[in-house]
Amino acid sequence: MHRVVDIERFEAESGYEKSLRPAKWEDYIGQEKIKRNLKVFIEASLRRGEALDHILFFGPPGLGKTTLANIISSMMGANIKTTAAPMIEKSGDLAAMLTSIEEGDILFIDEIHRMSPAIEEILYPAMEDFRLDIIIGSGPAAQSVKIDLPRFTLIGATTRAGMLSSPLRERFGMHFRMEFYDNKELAEIVMRAASRLSCQIAPEAAEEIAGRSRGTPRIALRLLRRVRDFSEVAGEERISLESARYGLEQLGVNDIGFDEQDIRVLELLVSSKGRPMGLSTIAAALSEDEGTIEDVVEPYLIANGYIERTARGRIATAKTYELFRLAPPQRETGGLFG
Ligand code: ADE
Repeated sequence: MHRVVDIERFEAESGYEKSLRPAKWEDYIGQEKIKRNLKVFIEASLRRGEALDHILFFGPPGLGKTTLANIISSMMGANIKTTAAPMIEKSGDLAAMLTSIEEGDILFIDEIHRMSPAIEEILYPAMEDFRLDIIIGSGPAAQSVKIDLPRFTLIGATTRAGMLSSPLRERFGMHFRMEFYDNKELAEIVMRAASRLSCQIAPEAAEEIAGRSRGTPRIALRLLRRVRDFSEVAGEERISLESARYGLEQLGVNDIGFDEQDIRVLELLVSSKGRPMGLSTIAAALSEDEGTIEDVVEPYLIANGYIERTARGRIATAKTYELFRLAPPQRETGGLFG
């Protein structure tokens, strides 16, 4: 099914998104706690003249992990090399990246939970001792080579902190959980993006887009672009609340920001009348990948109290039944509604 506010998990970034990316702290809205802490750690390491400790960002896609990595590199005055774990196929790929970086540089690895175990093994000594241990050749002629590396900072990003092996997770000195954005922050992001796109937008229209973006700047920016199309075709000089509403409606985003996929998950859970449903059952029923349900769809619904994860599976909360104007089921054995 076509998913309008879909976030392709391993998407190549659009130039559009890149061009709207804030380059300085002052322009980065939201994630206040993370920013506050990072500023302190960056200042401390700059004063000591040392590379920053390794950093792990985790949380749903589209919340600004890559953007933060880029801002950190410019604050540190460092170069950044960006890759994604699925692109590192051979140990030589990682070795080539590590040997080409300079003191204090940043290596950003996206989707780091998808790193193969063999590559992880190379990363451990590199992260811990700034040393590369590689085997050259094979069979009896194989040789182990150790290469000293400059002190660098690894920034890892993942939608699945739980899938990281614990030795890898423990080698990051800082762990930051990305939070969903509130509507005020998203509206501000939309207003700023509109101004950078030289397009005018009524503040109420920005708020409307914000409220329907699942707490996610990447979605807000995409919706802005689509709504701008509707507005332009309607001959407006400034995006109005009406055309924002019309456009969002046409795009299948409802007024609490749920898209069709969210609604399908909620309907399915409601239809099970309070019985917990396993992830694989949900995925099969919706012909969707389990990872997408777990990483992309569920976090927002859980953060907003529409579903709960229990040991036996997922259940819809009373809030969801209310949303569908249904009476919550009577539970046989205590639990959520008991
Ligand atoms: N664009 C995308 N994410 C943003 C953020 N957090 N602040 C400002 N602009 C953004």
